[in-house]
Amino acid sequence: MSATFIGGSDPIRRLLSLVERVAKTDSTLLIMGESGTGKERIARMIHEKSLRGRYPFVPVNCGAIPDGLIESELFGHEKGAFTGAINQRSGRFELAEGGTLFLDEIGELPLSLQVKLLRVLQEKVYERVGGSQPRKANVRILAATHRNLEQMVRDDLFREDLFYRLSVIPVDIPPLRLRVTDISLLLEFFVARWVEEGRGEPVCFSPEALHRLCRYEWPGNIRELENLVERFLVLKGGETVELSDLPEKILGSGVPGAPVPVVTESPDTSSFSSGKSARPMDLADLLNGESIDMPAYFLHLERAMIEKALARFSGNKTRAAAFLGINRTTLIEKLKRLEGLPPDLS
Ligand SMILES: Nc1ncnc2c1ncn2[C@@H]1O[C@H](COP(=O)(O)OP(=O)(O)OP(=O)(O)O)[C@@H](O)[C@H]1O
Ligand SMILES: [Mg+2]
Repeated sequence: MSATFIGGSDPIRRLLSLVERVAKTDSTLLIMGESGTGKERIARMIHEKSLRGRYPFVPVNCGAIPDGLIESELFGHEKGAFTGAINQRSGRFELAEGGTLFLDEIGELPLSLQVKLLRVLQEKVYERVGGSQPRKANVRILAATHRNLEQMVRDDLFREDLFYRLSVIPVDIPPLRLRVTDISLLLEFFVARWVEEGRGEPVCFSPEALHRLCRYEWPGNIRELENLVERFLVLKGGETVELSDLPEKILGSGVPGAPVPVVTESPDTSSFSSGKSARPMDLADLLNGESIDMPAYFLHLERAMIEKALARFSGNKTRAAAFLGINRTTLIEKLKRLEGLPPDLS
């Protein structure tokens, strides 16, 4: 799979430019981010862009392997090394030879293994369990965690020396709620992927639904959004997702303290006439809060203005565009984007 990382927000642009810089180096990276933010996806991208890209990318979830088995999982074992070791077995280091070993959930690695990992990082050698022959490791390590490793170091749960060795270059993936402008791009991306895979009809989102999705906290980040899109596609394929189609937890949510950017349901066209901005009262209210969801607000305004203009000129796009001070082709593009408008208008 060739990984792309969708997002046009400032934090994601910075992240992607860091990825470009670090990919070609052989540095160890510590990728940090909440659950579902795309840690593994970024790790794959870094691997694919690196000089090791044609060699294996081997993920290991340190949290999913029982403590007693993790050493043999990483380093392999010799025949008879322990009860049940009936055959010799290669470890993940060996499988990743020449490529990248992705140590996911590194915070879950037991302290005894942390020492051994530090040794491989420093000396580039290891031994199989039950073996005495040092084996060379030509592997780049990318580690990831959703935990606060610095706090774990303070609590003596994670070795300080390993932490510093791993976090030479920290790669921070921000949660989705801090990059609201990426939400519509991600929705589009997942819908398009679904359709491309021939799994069904596309959906589009009403501005009200999109607006609410932009206000939601997304505790499960991109994974949660991806799953939600699948649900919409199954239930609403070929239709528009309206506000009332959103799950209860999203409808009942909102960033505490943040203002809801109210746009009157039927904006008075006179307040949008040439040279005037949106109604000062609404804006004043909005700007008093802690934050504004500007993209969703503008989208809603845009839709309301276009609808009014089209209604005023009985659906005549040339006249509506002239009234709005935009080209006819721009109006048509906007209409396509604001799907959900009556089909006879296009
Ligand atoms: N920017 C993005 N563009 C497209 N897809 C993304 C993006 N970020 C994440 N995804 C997708 O979202 C899902 C979750 O991403 P990933 O598994 O990389 O997250 P994670 O941070 O490793 O999560 P966890 O902590 O739960 O392991 C995956 O299906 C991934 O492909
Ligand atoms: Mg992961």
